[in-house]
Amino acid sequence: MSALPPTAAAPAASPADAATLEQIAASVGTPAYVYGADAITAAYRQLDAAFGDAPHAIHYAMKANSSLAIVRLVRALGSAADANSMGEVEVALRCGFTPSDIVFTGVGKSAVELERAVALDLLAINVESPGELERLARLAADRGAVARVALRVNPDIDAQSHPHISTGLKSNKFGVPIDVAAALFREIASRPSLKAVGIHVHIGSQITALDPLERAAEAVVRLAAELRDAGIAIEHLDFGGGVGIAYDGGVAPDPTDYVRRIVRAAGGSGLKLAIEPGRVLVGAAGVLLTRVVDVKQFAGARRFVVLDAGMTELMRPALYGAFHRIEPVRPRAGALVPVDVVGPICESTDTFARDRALPPVEVGDLIVIRDSGAYAAAMGSNYLRRPLPPEVLTEGPAWRVTRRRQTLDDMLALES
Ligand SMILES: Cc1ncc(COP(=O)(O)O)c(C=O)c1O
Repeated sequence: MSALPPTAAAPAASPADAATLEQIAASVGTPAYVYGADAITAAYRQLDAAFGDAPHAIHYAMKANSSLAIVRLVRALGSAADANSMGEVEVALRCGFTPSDIVFTGVGKSAVELERAVALDLLAINVESPGELERLARLAADRGAVARVALRVNPDIDAQSHPHISTGLKSNKFGVPIDVAAALFREIASRPSLKAVGIHVHIGSQITALDPLERAAEAVVRLAAELRDAGIAIEHLDFGGGVGIAYDGGVAPDPTDYVRRIVRAAGGSGLKLAIEPGRVLVGAAGVLLTRVVDVKQFAGARRFVVLDAGMTELMRPALYGAFHRIEPVRPRAGALVPVDVVGPICESTDTFARDRALPPVEVGDLIVIRDSGAYAAAMGSNYLRRPLPPEVLTEGPAWRVTRRRQTLDDMLALES
């Protein structure tokens, strides 16, 4: 067996103390997601304050977690919204956002989605290709409307993140090469059914080196200057999301430093500065609360701790080998033991950690998987007919259920 990885060094921000987590588990069962409103509020305020006097908008990236309670919370804090599908646009509207708060991104928007986006007159439709631009122009013209367009540019910058969540390289499917953007903006300016409102860039997610984000911002600012010189007016620069968090409990990029770099690069443009943070607002604010359902080890084989949560509740480890801290709610005394922490699903990739050093655990013990506020519930599935778990929001010492556990009847309601 390989060497034990170091145990998490930094104290983890938890949405609830051990006693509250036990209460929650007793009340709603496991697995369950538990989010802390206080941590989300603090993260939002930190980003917002870092802009200082610069005109700006924070468009919360709903793809990270689009649960109603979370979306309503960030809206109450003053956020705008970034929707990655028409479903997210509709959820944003139901949470009280107006169309003028919403930017709509997506690498393959359907005609129905574009039609609805035009009818709503969203703040910006972030266009990803010349073909999409043409379809949008015709569709808006047919309706006598003017679509508000931001062009998503691909700056060919390596985000130095996991390849599966890098989006800013020429080899990725996202956006248009930045060197053809000016020509496309001229095309937009020539079409009465389109109005250029912004430049959009998003080079990836879980980015822990801020330099690539800064270079992407600088590239966008250069393009904005070129447009200004060509007499093409826009309203905002949208730098996307991507700032990472410290899943290992180590040092995370400083969100304040990130915003300062954006303001330094773009503050002189005179344009509104927009960002689309997801993970950095909600990732560390949530845990997946789960219970040990089995512990097994045979001679010469690995020791497995089987949880009642699996890749259906947190897909990131299976999807891109992501690391999450895994900790008993009440650690038992005893030496750390290397174990494989796995889910109950019939897929070998349903594994949260290999050779992870855990204190002794027994069947029935409560475990938290940390940093499960982003890209966990949002990526959940009903595979194996597993119901979507409940979600709980804590605020100070209080907590409330914001989503009940899905029932079999809920799940089957669509089928005949
Ligand atoms: C277009 C867009 N904006 C914003 C985000 C949010 O990214 P993150 O959660 O890393 O901040 C994403 C996610 O990848 C995205 O695709």
